Amino acid sequence: MSTLAPGARISVLYDAETLDRRVHELASEIVSDMGREPLVIPVLKSSFIFAADLLRALHEAGAEPDVDFVSLSSYGQGTLSLGEVKIVRDTEVEIAGRDVLIIDDILESGRTLAYAKDLMTARRARLVKTCVLLDKPGKLAVPMKADFTGFQCPDKFVIGYGMDVAHAYRQLPFVGVMEG
Ligand code: IMP
Ligand code: MG
Repeated sequence: MSTLAPGARISVLYDAETLDRRVHELASEIVSDMGREPLVIPVLKSSFIFAADLLRALHEAGAEPDVDFVSLSSYGQGTLSLGEVKIVRDTEVEIAGRDVLIIDDILESGRTLAYAKDLMTARRARLVKTCVLLDKPGKLAVPMKADFTGFQCPDKFVIGYGMDVAHAYRQLPFVGVMEG
């Protein structure tokens, strides 16, 4: 069921071609920096389309990554200054000694990515790097900077390409902003 309010429109921020081009550039940067055998860990749910495209671009760039997933949820944001992150589904592979690349959709407060990075570091990864599709500047609540960033994003609520509002619009092949 659509949750789009009557009269609301979605405007395109990054179209499919723009996303595809940037994803391929990111894959080349990642392979140059991390080599051909990273352990790639997408943070579910909202990174799933970005991660799927990036993994195929990594393959085209010559990488042979292992892949596992972590599902994190953050809550308390907007009500308390201390947003909490919890693990909904944990990884299964051995992390110790690996070069880990964490993938997320958006870096906003930084809590989710910082939590994921700390988790992999505590599990004795040899190296932990982070990649986000979008960085919303000026919103950090904890110190965090992604090693690889797709786009600096305007401070607007975005949807599509895996990102949702109330579980809707993840299927859109572009990143859009709800207007009206
Ligand atoms: P944070 O960096 O811990 O604040 O969390 C970032 C997470 O919040 C992202 O992984 C998204 O899932 C979600 N998020 C933040 N901004 C948006 C948005 O504009 N649209 C959809 N989800 C968002
Ligand atoms: Mg997310």
